[in-house]
Amino acid sequence: MALDPKEQRRILGRFATGVTVASTKVGDETWGMTANAVTSLSLYPPLVILCIQKDGQSHAKFKEGGCYALNILAADQQEISDRFAFKGPKDFSDLDTKTAETGSPILNDSLGWVDCKLKEILPGGDHDIFIGEIVAGEASEDGEPLLYFGGKYAKTAAAS
Ligand SMILES: Cc1cc2nc3c(=O)[nH]c(=O)nc-3n(C[C@H](O)[C@H](O)[C@H](O)COP(=O)(O)O)c2cc1C
Repeated sequence: MALDPKEQRRILGRFATGVTVASTKVGDETWGMTANAVTSLSLYPPLVILCIQKDGQSHAKFKEGGCYALNILAADQQEISDRFAFKGPKDFSDLDTKTAETGSPILNDSLGWVDCKLKEILPGGDHDIFIGEIVAGEASEDGEPLLYFGGKYAKTAAAS
């Protein structure tokens, strides 16, 4: 019998993750979505994964954009995470950003970022798996991450 979805959420919630804001550009419009279903997939070639819920607005935006950046959030960026997850504008026009290769917005004060061309979309139940080929990236040497654990934000001891 399939596992109860609430129980799956509870169990997998024990797996602590960082938090990213995934961004894309569709024509002149920018779009962001908070995401922790991301991972590094391959080094040769350099690939990452971003999983996007199929029935939200973001799916069509990232598909049409054909590119995305993953902005790894710092411990003091919970407000930005909330904005792109729950409420507030989904564009980046009022934020301090730059672009690299694809034009996807990159947050200047994130811990690190990768800029990707969308290579493939694979099915994954109620989500799709967006495989991105990394074409540029950078990271700071220090700074503490925003974490997500047990359905809540968390911080490292050093950031608390
Ligand atoms: C910490 C956190 C992580 C999330 N990770 C993902 C994710 O990996 N994929 C996803 O589709 N939604 C994720 N969400 C939910 C989206 O950020 C949220 O549904 C967003 O508003 C997307 O807009 P849409 O539903 O209009 O596409 C996450 C939310 C939070 C708070």
